[in-house]
Amino acid sequence: MIREICKNVFHVGAIDWDRRLFDALIPLPDGTSYNSYLIKGSEKTALIDAVDPGKKDVLIDNLDSLRIDRIDYIISQHAEQDHSGAIKFLLERYDSTVLGSQKCIELLLDFGIVSKDRTRAVSDNELLSLGDMTLEFISAPWVHWPDTIFTYLRERRMLFTCDFLGAHLATSDLFAWNPESAKRYYAEIMMPFRANARRHLERIRALGPEIIAPSHGPLHKRPEVVLNAYSEWTSDDVKNLVVVPFVSMHGSTEKMVSHLVDALIDRGVSVERFDLTKTDTGALAASLVDAATVVFGTPAFITRPHPLIAYAAILANALRPKARFASIIGSYGWGARIVEEMRSLMPNLKMEIIEPVIVKGYPKEDDLRAIERLADEILRRHRELGLL
Ligand SMILES: Cc1cc2nc3c(=O)[nH]c(=O)nc-3n(C[C@H](O)[C@H](O)[C@H](O)COP(=O)(O)O)c2cc1C
Ligand SMILES: [Fe+2]
Ligand SMILES: [Fe+2]
Repeated sequence: MIREICKNVFHVGAIDWDRRLFDALIPLPDGTSYNSYLIKGSEKTALIDAVDPGKKDVLIDNLDSLRIDRIDYIISQHAEQDHSGAIKFLLERYDSTVLGSQKCIELLLDFGIVSKDRTRAVSDNELLSLGDMTLEFISAPWVHWPDTIFTYLRERRMLFTCDFLGAHLATSDLFAWNPESAKRYYAEIMMPFRANARRHLERIRALGPEIIAPSHGPLHKRPEVVLNAYSEWTSDDVKNLVVVPFVSMHGSTEKMVSHLVDALIDRGVSVERFDLTKTDTGALAASLVDAATVVFGTPAFITRPHPLIAYAAILANALRPKARFASIIGSYGWGARIVEEMRSLMPNLKMEIIEPVIVKGYPKEDDLRAIERLADEILRRHRELGLL
């Protein structure tokens, strides 16, 4: 299925309605899409990004139904296989030159997708004339790989941003704004690169595009909506929110978590609670986008924190949320190194640790009072930040 976005600019990519996992890690509750854009200039034809190799036939059918017999340039904005995998098959059919950043070309060679003689590196601000249309390449590294470029189609004021400003969302709408899926996608893919994302946002605002066309999910007809959302997410501002990922084998840690959640609600603090035996990683990641505090709950498990909470800690360490405070609550039977191990799993995070509450066995009255004191401490810090 092909969709004409504006004169001589077509969406020729694929919707992946059924995909349920990305990066062998992230659940995709709503599928995704691999957007690929064909631009037919009066002299030259260019394709921006290809699709995941699993959907190459959709892309090729789309090009055939548009009767495309020549693609002069394939612009690879990012070498990750969900956008570059199909390039290999396109090069068997078309005599195209693959354009990308120097880093992208190197990666495409490393991945065995292209051979060197079919490539040309482009630099920041370089222009490419297609006849009546001009493309400008914009270097945008580290959202989320070192190779990314954006492409600006000047005559249509249309900016192609590859993974940046995208969403994992399969939808029949060409243009849409779904803040939940956009936020989830930001959390999983872009949050670790918050500072770079902020820089790129400024550059995009200065360009003033009228359409933003990412390579996953719907396009943006009102760019300020997605740009403003990203400005908020990438800012240092946090919300009056505590995220509580936890696991409990026999109910002791769970009792502590429930007591903490109620105590925080009583104090006017919002809470998101995630039982890690049931949690969708994407939902947890999204909650970390603007939380001020994270409290991890875990029992001792063979001298250490439970593996599921260790997983959440490793994930948080990788995603680098902007939370200011953290704490740890949990239960043990005879002796374990819960707090030290949790700290060592999160070396990247600069969060201040509020006094943990680790109890022996099932929590008693005194233990629950300690949990209430933790809630008081969290409230005090949130107040100091002016969050309530
Ligand atoms: C598989 C397993 C391993 C455990 N390993 C330890 C340990 O190394 N050190 C310790 O103090 N307690 C250990 N415990 C005991 C639990 O940490 C303790 O019973 C705790 O109260 C359980 O909390 P929960 O009810 O939240 O699961 C272990 C329990 C289980 C089931
Ligand atoms: Fe990517
Ligand atoms: Fe991607």
